[in-house]
Amino acid sequence: MKIINFVLGILLLSFSAMTMADPVIIKYSHVVAENTPKGQAALKFKELAEKYLPGKVKVEVFPNSQLFGDGKEMEALLLGDVQIVAPSLAKFGKYTTKLQIFDLPFLFDDIHAVDRFQNSAKGQELLASMEGKGLVGLGFLHNGMKQLSANVPLRTPADAKGLKFRIQSSDVLEAQFKAVGGNPQKIAFAEVYQALQSGVVDGTENPWSNTYTKKFYEVQKYITESDHGVLDYMVVTNEKWWKGLPADIRKALGKAMSESIAFGNKIALTEDQDYRTKVIEAKKAEVIKLTKAEKAEWRNAMKPVWAQFEPEIGKDLIDAAIQANELPVAAKKAKSKKK
Ligand code: SIN
Repeated sequence: MKIINFVLGILLLSFSAMTMADPVIIKYSHVVAENTPKGQAALKFKELAEKYLPGKVKVEVFPNSQLFGDGKEMEALLLGDVQIVAPSLAKFGKYTTKLQIFDLPFLFDDIHAVDRFQNSAKGQELLASMEGKGLVGLGFLHNGMKQLSANVPLRTPADAKGLKFRIQSSDVLEAQFKAVGGNPQKIAFAEVYQALQSGVVDGTENPWSNTYTKKFYEVQKYITESDHGVLDYMVVTNEKWWKGLPADIRKALGKAMSESIAFGNKIALTEDQDYRTKVIEAKKAEVIKLTKAEKAEWRNAMKPVWAQFEPEIGKDLIDAAIQANELPVAAKKAKSKKK
């Protein structure tokens, strides 16, 4: 009897230990404001992950470079100090040269073309391009097309000559500004406002949501609607941590992630122009519209960068991206019917 009681006691203890197991803590760190597509997607992931896995996971979101800024967030991920980050595609240069494709100037006609490329077979392959480096891509997330800004009006490439531009840590972006005679400086996102305000740099490039939420428009006199490139993200996790999760938890987290990305993408696609309107309404910076001829000048000046990086990126990828500028046949038909 004593033995039975003892065994029952042990079983009861281990059962309560199992049911009271601590939740898996998932730290999701990023550098932008909460009211951006990425900020909103991160919060949606928390909501959904905790809903699908009640008591089993706890997601902590750290926006605005609160926990780790550029440069440090990837190291932190590899060290296991955070579990999810979503850097701009321009910031993966240390881990793969393939993602440089997204920085090529004037490669994508618009964000819809970017979306088609990311969802193509070639685009999806890129999610696994850093597995050898311990990183797994969980999905692409949109922000938007980039606009140039400066304290002088930028209408033609000649206007950029001699100006200092803040860039993300990307060799392609460095080459892009050199191609127009600019002087690019790699600066972390958290330091951009200060760098613009103090005159460390004269100009920069970013999508409307970042320009608005980080108030760059307060410290830039002109914003040129150039749509010359894209700033999107890859949501990444630590491969070892991800593959070590129990299968049911990994599956539910994957579902929460896909849905949170779809949510963030919808915000990016529908609200990009609202952020633009807010910048205009603030009446601090003048927004410059380019004529077709002016835009062509920027394109011609920057396009040699493609050939420079083609050996590292691969012609096949560049061709697939160009292809994504074409509307699928069904969409073309629907468009011509509407006319
Ligand atoms: C971000 O959107 O995550 C930051 C972009 C930048 O560094 O310009």
